[in-house]
Amino acid sequence: MRRLLCGLINAPKAARTMWLSVAPLKLKNAANSRCTSSFQGDNVCNGAHSKKALLSDPRLFEDQFEELVAELTERDFADPALADALSRLREVLVYNSPGGKRNRGLSVIGSLRELLPPNELTQDLVQRALLVGWCIELLQAFFLVADDIMDASVTRRGQPCWYKKDGIGLDAINDSFLLEGSIYRLLRRHCRDQPYYIHLLELFTETSFQTELGQALDLMTAPPGQIDLNRFSMERYKAIVKYKTAYYSFYLPVASAMYLAGINSEKEHSNAKHILLEMGEFFQIQDDYLDCYGDPAVTGKIGTDIQDNKCSWLVVTALEVMTPEQRAELEACYGRHDAASVEKVKAVYNTLQMPTLYQQYEEESYKRLQKLIAAHAQNLPHAVFLNFAKKIYKRNK
Ligand code: IPE
Ligand code: MN
Ligand code: MN
Repeated sequence: MRRLLCGLINAPKAARTMWLSVAPLKLKNAANSRCTSSFQGDNVCNGAHSKKALLSDPRLFEDQFEELVAELTERDFADPALADALSRLREVLVYNSPGGKRNRGLSVIGSLRELLPPNELTQDLVQRALLVGWCIELLQAFFLVADDIMDASVTRRGQPCWYKKDGIGLDAINDSFLLEGSIYRLLRRHCRDQPYYIHLLELFTETSFQTELGQALDLMTAPPGQIDLNRFSMERYKAIVKYKTAYYSFYLPVASAMYLAGINSEKEHSNAKHILLEMGEFFQIQDDYLDCYGDPAVTGKIGTDIQDNKCSWLVVTALEVMTPEQRAELEACYGRHDAASVEKVKAVYNTLQMPTLYQQYEEESYKRLQKLIAAHAQNLPHAVFLNFAKKIYKRNK
């Protein structure tokens, strides 16, 4: 709060007056006013000169959701024959969007604030960055609804997986399509006239395809009932996680912010990608670790990797250090659904001190990333990457 007041006091007089007097912003017709204060932090100026301008990005982000749901379910189609389908869409959006960490969605506006000077962050641009953030959250919801079916998961974000709900089942497949389609309706409605529209479209479709290829690799490396530890290797592992996780979770939000800021050059995108894919790999290693060692009360999901015969970082790393006896034990117990087998796999992991190996890996990975940022960020602000890294290292959810 002190920072906030400080920023307000130091701001030019005209800006100060604007801060106190303008009506709350609306997504549909945001004014093109400019913010002149320059402080950063949680309560940063969000470019909206209104009471809402005092709110943090996470708060502004959450506030936008209801409006987007209303647009998608009430305003897009006037045909009364669609009423039931649109009310289904509302239910799907409301059930599958909340409860996540919002790292992906929020990092669009977070990165944009690092990429542009405050006086170039118009209220319109802030609103669009929040919207593009929601598109990434919708993409994530689309993938997760489908992923939970494919992985036979039980809970997600502390509630039953959508397909597990009474009366939903495999109709959830179509619901995942609705979530995906919603992305493009929103982009069209809000960004169609912007010079970066085509870049965003290509980015979202390309990233979706990369993720789907990653999911294909993940699934075919884990055929149910066909246990063959020789299928698992670090090389295969890295390919799976780069495609299924790193592109959409790390490159997509930052690349979106870059396009919004008018940074289109191949070179700058490839520099950013280099760093972000490495971060994404580490993020999935954490996900794999938490699948076994996380607290479901904190992560909101119950691990299924052992039962699902997944090529997880834990099994790949264990294979590199285990004895032939331990390998035989794993061969007998991995990919099985009975509790006793799962416990035996976990016992092997514990004997191999997987938590210690993981912590060592986390330290090394953080150091490697710092070097990568120093070498590849070049004229992109390092904070874009460091902010992201700070959010994920040492996470337990
Ligand atoms: C999910 O990978 C990747 C996508 C949703 C594209 P996982 O299957 O490993 O993730 P969780 O553990 O279910 O969240
Ligand atoms: Mn899964
Ligand atoms: Mn999966």
